[in-house]
Amino acid sequence: MLLDMAAMECNLQTMARFFSQGSVGLRPHFKNHKCPTLAFRQLAAGAIGMTCATVAEAECLARHGVQSLLIANEIADPIKIDRFIDLAGQTEVMVCVDNEKIVDAIAAAARKKRIQPGLLVDVDVGLHRCGVQPGEAAVRLAKAVLEKGLQFRGLMGYEGQVLRKPPGPEKVEAASAAMRLLIECRDLIEGAGIPVEIVSAGGTGSYNISGRYPGVTEIQAGSYLVMDTDYRQCCTDFQLALSLLTTVISKTEGERVVVDAGLKTLSAERGMPSVKGIDDVTLKRLNAEHGVIQLENPSVALQVGDKIELWVHYSDATINLHKRIYSIRNGEVEEVLRIEG
Ligand SMILES: Cc1ncc(COP(=O)(O)O)c(C=O)c1O
Repeated sequence: MLLDMAAMECNLQTMARFFSQGSVGLRPHFKNHKCPTLAFRQLAAGAIGMTCATVAEAECLARHGVQSLLIANEIADPIKIDRFIDLAGQTEVMVCVDNEKIVDAIAAAARKKRIQPGLLVDVDVGLHRCGVQPGEAAVRLAKAVLEKGLQFRGLMGYEGQVLRKPPGPEKVEAASAAMRLLIECRDLIEGAGIPVEIVSAGGTGSYNISGRYPGVTEIQAGSYLVMDTDYRQCCTDFQLALSLLTTVISKTEGERVVVDAGLKTLSAERGMPSVKGIDDVTLKRLNAEHGVIQLENPSVALQVGDKIELWVHYSDATINLHKRIYSIRNGEVEEVLRIEG
């Protein structure tokens, strides 16, 4: 994979500028790039900490010395709960909960190690994935966290159902409606005498709506940094920075070429990747190790051995297929970035 450093830095600055102009913090999602070097770039640009999807990602960042971590996800496996508690003994890490049984399990593991980790109550603000129902269920769970001797740090609500909507008033209303549910929960919990320090939400597609909604304290955007052709259809504030370098391995004159990249190196989960910088060609099919590119114009001058870049269409599910990214500046490799976690 190749990362265009000029485009990545432009995205980094665009986001940093937005968050420097308000009181909301940016806690970038590490799951997108899984690259500690890029996480350090985000922290140096003003991020308040990092968001993770898994305990393994949080362990990775902790190993690299990153201080403030949020696992914006539920954990339920006893081994993962133990790993989370061990990590909480080493660094500031929080996890989300939506179930009292898991609060009990985390509390039991924490007691054994005499640790008091911080928890966020996850509220379902419309994605219908994880999260308690907004309202009294959130209050009950916040109370349970405290009663079990754990730290209740606040709320998280991920409005994933909104992020890929096209920009416009409908999107603003949908994201605001989700944030309203979250802030109403905050008010109910504070009304019960429990302080809510953190209200964490958002993603790349809603950073400028949820990130300005009164009461939200931090935004978990991740995809903005490297962008992809799927997200860019609805989010043009950020530039495409990530591509896959391939080689033409076969050519059927006037009809197609085949490159040495397929589903093992490139996700087609949200649609087909496209070819960077060449007109009149369409990536038609990805097999395990083959990408079949149709020549819409038979005179396209591609030969076996030629290098072709494909835009990454869904970065989240593509980066994890790789071990490294080559960062490119002025046409030269600048650095080899390790993907971990
Ligand atoms: C809980 C959570 N927060 C934040 C994000 C980051 O969103 P984005 O990819 O829009 O930057 C995701 C992405 O799936 C997520 O699952």
